[in-house]
Amino acid sequence: MRRPLRLGVLGSGKGSNFRAIMEEIVGSRLDAEVRIVISDVEDSGILSLARDFQVPGLYVRPGRFRTKLEPEIEEDIARLLLEADVELVVLAGFMRIVKQPLLEAFPRKMINIHPSLLPRFPGLEAWKQALAAGEKVTGCTVHYVDAAVDAGDILGKETVPILSDDTPESLHARIQESEHRLLPAVIAGIAEEFRGAET
Ligand code: GRF
Repeated sequence: MRRPLRLGVLGSGKGSNFRAIMEEIVGSRLDAEVRIVISDVEDSGILSLARDFQVPGLYVRPGRFRTKLEPEIEEDIARLLLEADVELVVLAGFMRIVKQPLLEAFPRKMINIHPSLLPRFPGLEAWKQALAAGEKVTGCTVHYVDAAVDAGDILGKETVPILSDDTPESLHARIQESEHRLLPAVIAGIAEEFRGAET
């Protein structure tokens, strides 16, 4: 019997994408298991959700930088993921730029969800950028994580309309609904690919 794809999820926020992944797993629509959740925010929603879903959740110290992690902390995270036997790392709202050595530990085995149609609007609060630019559509993108920020190879996108009365909040909420479909679907595709390569 084939084993479910073993995931490690990194997040800093409320964890709605992690919840979406778990709901697909619990509903037997996604052949995966989340082995570990890691957060740089001790009281984050994602760690509290990990407890609710009885998935091991770990807080790692954020260190002295705001947008990246010190190499020693990345090494700790890589070790925790490897010890948990993770095959694919999912960045689900992880608000740090990932560098070596974490990237080196999971080459082409780390994906990220971004709230815009990349390559449009990389960086922070991409939905606000799309609104300010007067776009009629935006969306979300799942891509491989590499050394370039929000620029790795694209695995999937979903388009979301921008309505004339949208606020940043209403638009972000609509994009998140789309993220919750796209991210588990992309993971399901990767699970098929991994297991196909094994047989
Ligand atoms: C999402 O909008 C994602 O695109 C961005 O961070 C947000 C995370 O939301 N990278 P959540 O913590 O999964 O609710």
